Amino acid sequence: MLKLIILGPPGAGKGTQAIKLAKTYRIPHISTGDILRDNINRGTNLGEQASGFIKRGELVPDNLITKIILEKLDGEECNLGYILDGFPRTIWQAKKLDDYFRRIKQNSAFVINIKVDDNILVDRITGRRTCQKCGATYHIINLPPKFENKCNICRGNLVQRPDDKINVIVNRLEVFKLQIKKLEEFYSISPNYQIFDGSEEPNNLTKKIAKYLCCSE
Ligand code: AP5
Repeated sequence: MLKLIILGPPGAGKGTQAIKLAKTYRIPHISTGDILRDNINRGTNLGEQASGFIKRGELVPDNLITKIILEKLDGEECNLGYILDGFPRTIWQAKKLDDYFRRIKQNSAFVINIKVDDNILVDRITGRRTCQKCGATYHIINLPPKFENKCNICRGNLVQRPDDKINVIVNRLEVFKLQIKKLEEFYSISPNYQIFDGSEEPNNLTKKIAKYLCCSE
């Protein structure tokens, strides 16, 4: 059973790597951002509660997101493992996840921390376009779609995430920096913790992460 947590700032490539690794290992990719955005689009109670926080680039309340994730991990689809993208994001969430592993008598997860310089992150996020229909992501310069503003996979319209605008990004990066130190302290004592350079070309990075997971399992 492979349980993997991906840490990293907005735009580090957590989602990009999680999608590739989930395919390789045939385990679910659990993205808290995708779950929240889906709930916002469907107008659910959770979506209504989360929407304001996301628009401002703040974190949604710990207990709200933690309850959803822990319930998901209990589901049958997670029996063979999973990749957590965007969770935990605070020390409170990390401790709750650890308590959960202890309660169900499971080992802790692998934790990878993808690091990238701020100036690269801002370019990546402001240039990102996301398919409204299937959620696939592109970059206007580094990974343009074949047809302007149309998804290669489903031909859905490509849009900029409202929280990918520059004024919100600045806040998201600040919020990230406030939390990451404590998370690094918490996880870095584990033998299953590894830092990766997120400025590498995506496929090379996936290979390096896969090699690390394969050698450490
Ligand atoms: P979320 O959706 O998780 O956003 P994020 O963490 O800010 O991460 P991003 O999706 O922006 O970036 P990513 O690292 O996945 O990068 P990607 O692969 O897309 O969360 C959104 C909001 O939800 C939060 O702000 C918060 O409000 C709320 N939330 C979520 N989880 C929460 C939690 N646990 N607790 C509380 N609140 C929570 O790549 C970015 C771009 O770069 C793409 O264009 C891609 O093509 C490109 N790219 C990727 N890798 C590379 C590479 N190696 N080289 C060149 N380009 C690359």
